[in-house]
Amino acid sequence: AKDGYELWLDYRPLENANLKTEVDRLFSGVFFFGQSPTYEIIRKELEISSQQMIEKAPVFSMERLAKTQVWMGTREELSQVLGLDQQVQIRELGEDGYWRGPIDFQGKTYYAIVGNRPVGVLYGVFDWLKSIQTETFNPKTEKSDSPKVKLRMLNHWDNLDRTVERGYAGFSIWDWHKLPGYIDPRYIDYARANASLGINAVSLTNVNANARILTTDFMKKAKVLADLFRPYGIKVFLTARFSAPMEIGGLKTADPLDPAVSEFWKKKTDEMYSFIPDFGGYLVKANSEGQPGPHEYQRNHAEGANVLADALAPHGGILIWRAFVYSHEIDEDRHKQANLEFEPLDGKFRDNVIIQVKNGAIDFMPREPFHPLFGAVKNTNLGMEFQITQEYLGQATQLVYLAPMWEEVLRSQTYRPTPNSTVAGIIDGTDSGQKLTLMAGVSNIGTDRNWTGHLFGQANWFAFGRQAWDPYLTSAEVAEEWIKMTFGQKPEALVKIKEIMLESREAAVNYMTPLGLHHIMGRSHHYGPAPWVEGGRADWTSLYYHLADSLGIGFDRTGSGSNAIAQYAPEIAKAWSDPNQIPEKYLLWFHHLPWDFKLKSGKTLWEGIGLHYDLGVKTARKMEADWKSLEADLDSEQFDHVRQLLAIQVQEAEWWRNACLLYFQTFANRPFPAEIEKPE
Ligand code: GCU
Repeated sequence: AKDGYELWLDYRPLENANLKTEVDRLFSGVFFFGQSPTYEIIRKELEISSQQMIEKAPVFSMERLAKTQVWMGTREELSQVLGLDQQVQIRELGEDGYWRGPIDFQGKTYYAIVGNRPVGVLYGVFDWLKSIQTETFNPKTEKSDSPKVKLRMLNHWDNLDRTVERGYAGFSIWDWHKLPGYIDPRYIDYARANASLGINAVSLTNVNANARILTTDFMKKAKVLADLFRPYGIKVFLTARFSAPMEIGGLKTADPLDPAVSEFWKKKTDEMYSFIPDFGGYLVKANSEGQPGPHEYQRNHAEGANVLADALAPHGGILIWRAFVYSHEIDEDRHKQANLEFEPLDGKFRDNVIIQVKNGAIDFMPREPFHPLFGAVKNTNLGMEFQITQEYLGQATQLVYLAPMWEEVLRSQTYRPTPNSTVAGIIDGTDSGQKLTLMAGVSNIGTDRNWTGHLFGQANWFAFGRQAWDPYLTSAEVAEEWIKMTFGQKPEALVKIKEIMLESREAAVNYMTPLGLHHIMGRSHHYGPAPWVEGGRADWTSLYYHLADSLGIGFDRTGSGSNAIAQYAPEIAKAWSDPNQIPEKYLLWFHHLPWDFKLKSGKTLWEGIGLHYDLGVKTARKMEADWKSLEADLDSEQFDHVRQLLAIQVQEAEWWRNACLLYFQTFANRPFPAEIEKPE
């Protein structure tokens, strides 16, 4: 039975006879043109995969020509045997790219996997193994690829006591207590999984940071992880608490313009690099949700970020500063705060600073329009922050494949800096021109045997890595890869599982927050519906966001309301200000409308809300039924795990629908549309 520990690296026995013969031949003579710790990792991966796929150990040759089949190495290492065209092509693939394909040499054809660095070779090998697992490998064709985004990063929100903020898969996999002495084998499997996707950076600790991570004791622990991850091409970042100069530095202030404070950061950072010479840098959440920051000293975000950036710069480190800011004092629409604080600072951040922006302006809601900071600044590096952990999307009990959501955001047209610009084009530098590029995902990984709690949480980790490598991939092609790697070659099951995955996100939006509704979940735990939440800070309540009353529902962010819409490009602001032109999926995000407002379908808004909630429930039920029909095709443990969770998901979908519709009806005072199941 399969418990999910192997993730998508569960190399199954090959059933296709031709492929098996071919793989057998290739694995019988593998030659490395050079030496590197990364090549040792490749050897191990080939040992594992070969044993599992063809039940044989691979043969590593000590000499190039005699009996070898597969050649591996960097372009430089292979330069004597590579054709000129190949050399040029590979060089253009940059630091992390790879080329794999047939090479004719002295009358024989070899299969080569080449990068500009050993880690490029590693990525090429993982891609090669994937092509075997998914039965798309053809030894006669060449393939090359390189990542479009430079930093492809996981953000763990893991605390030093091993609890995980918004983590639903057990405790943190970082066992700080036993480090540096004890190396959990899981660290290696974690690194393998990330490298197989091209993830090359991880921030180990919570953005709500604990300054202790920057003490010498913890640096020694982090060093062990950095050393382990290095040959996998993964750099370690840590979260820096802005008040650390006071908490662990004995200073009375953390004012970024105080010379003692900049000296603290410089010394701390030098010390960090003495342990981890390729340390990635810091990730900082400042002046947000009570976290300390430069505003305490009447300094702005740029002044705050630059002092840390200057400490990192001599070592080539990067400072990632989050744009997720909102504070108690501000009584503006929270949607506007990041743009209000960051637009005026455009051009004021150092070159080694990236501003990490959540995909939307509120907070990882099931659906948000893209964040208006994308496209609003010209001389500031912007990185994307997605949330892989499903804080607002059913946590670990629901199957919600998130790639369609990320695809929707990445493909959104920003109209700035050019009329055709998209969010992806800003993130990867093609439209923005930025050199330093970043896509970060808040991790859903924990100590659960299957890493992510829900088996399909693995698909979200996988999809994040794939989309960070190439933000233009479609969620459908990524789903197909993951399904084949996770469940094996089962054509009928593939079609159904893919359908389940691709409809799951829209289903969740429908039964949670259709038509642009948002932030109506339970308070603080963020689980389940609670549109009635009131009291406390206005922008922590639900009423603040939906504003339902006897006349209508929705948040007016147009000119007659908070005017957050004006933070988008004029093309968008104009079109979306009109409730008849705005895509209906964003309707109540920007408009407060009467219950009888006519939707494109001809239904009233009230009826439309009912129909969406109902459709969400029906889709969840269909997902459950479709899954049940696959019993014979699937491993019993995997089948049962997902079957039970889907039953919970259906109940939760009904719970959301019933709670929201019954509650909103108390304002709308209208009967439910005849075609829906009556909520009770
Ligand atoms: C959300 C989440 C917090 C988290 C915050 C952040 O508000 O609920 O737990 O700290 O995002 O991204 O900083």
